[in-house]
Amino acid sequence: MSLQDDLDALRDDALREIAAADSPDLLEAVRVRFLGRSGSLKDLMGRIKEVPPADKKVVGQRLNAVKEELEAAWDGKKASLADARPTSGPLPDPTLPGRTQPLGTLHPLTQAMERFCGIFERLGFTIRQGPEIEDVFHNFDALNMPDDHPVRDQADTFVLENDAILRSQTSTVQARVMEEHVRRYGGGKGMPPIRIVSPGRTYRPDSVDATHHYGFSQIEGLAVDTDVTMADLKGFLALFARETFGEATKTRFRPSFFPFTEPSAELDISCVFCGGTGCRVCKNSGWVELGGCGMVHPNVFDVLGIDSELFTGFAFGFGIERVAMFMLGVDDIRRFSENDLRFLRQF
Ligand code: DAH
Repeated sequence: MSLQDDLDALRDDALREIAAADSPDLLEAVRVRFLGRSGSLKDLMGRIKEVPPADKKVVGQRLNAVKEELEAAWDGKKASLADARPTSGPLPDPTLPGRTQPLGTLHPLTQAMERFCGIFERLGFTIRQGPEIEDVFHNFDALNMPDDHPVRDQADTFVLENDAILRSQTSTVQARVMEEHVRRYGGGKGMPPIRIVSPGRTYRPDSVDATHHYGFSQIEGLAVDTDVTMADLKGFLALFARETFGEATKTRFRPSFFPFTEPSAELDISCVFCGGTGCRVCKNSGWVELGGCGMVHPNVFDVLGIDSELFTGFAFGFGIERVAMFMLGVDDIRRFSENDLRFLRQF
């Protein structure tokens, strides 16, 4: 018999059997036999080789048309079997209450992180992330922290094998982003500006108490351009504080020291709990500390290959748990990692 005849026969058989199948199992068996990967339609398609070249196109089209027709008939039958009411047993009771699906929520720290990132994104910053297992260069050397700096003591950092460490600060991402930027554009005239924030986990072998944990999160920020000034730093951070804690929030910059910024400052905000009049949280000072910031030290630019005569930048770094604790009124940093649903469900 010709391929045409066989195809017509197959079509008739398949349609008849699809129509006759009265359970999903039978219908599936019909599909496997006719339309499956080694089903009879596939066999016929293999025989297209036998067809004289002049007829190939027509026969091919016909094969495809039959395939589509059978698939549509099969889908239609499948849907009608699914709709069919059960023929035996009790009918479902539509007045029973539905089953609720318990919905999860984002962890409060993730919520805080997303909120901070959102504020900076609206200000034109891009989110960048870096590795938590770091090398000593990006965690210390590139950030102007010399060999004899006390934080480089093994007792202050988690040390892994092969000179790897767990990063003790997200400032590592500043170094990585600047390095990559220089690789791409060169660090001289014409280098496009950088504006990034980098949220992520950081690690220090601290003893755990209500305000310290060996694993915590920071958000780092970096802006580099030809004319970045301390006024930009203050403006951006004051805006961030108002967006995060409310319009009435005041900011205060206290002189400080970080090896990778000069000048360096500590950013305080008016206490979110008492509005600045003095309470237990702010130890009656009216201010709470958010984190460190400053103007990128020229040595950092020099090590990473950015021309420190042409470019200036600001940087900042805050502990996310710390800020989230103020924001959410949480009194113990351990709550964030205990996985106690009674705590987590509140957010
Ligand atoms: N990396 C600092 C820390 O962990 C925080 C910090 C201070 C980051 C000043 C900065 C900065 O970018 O400019 O204590």
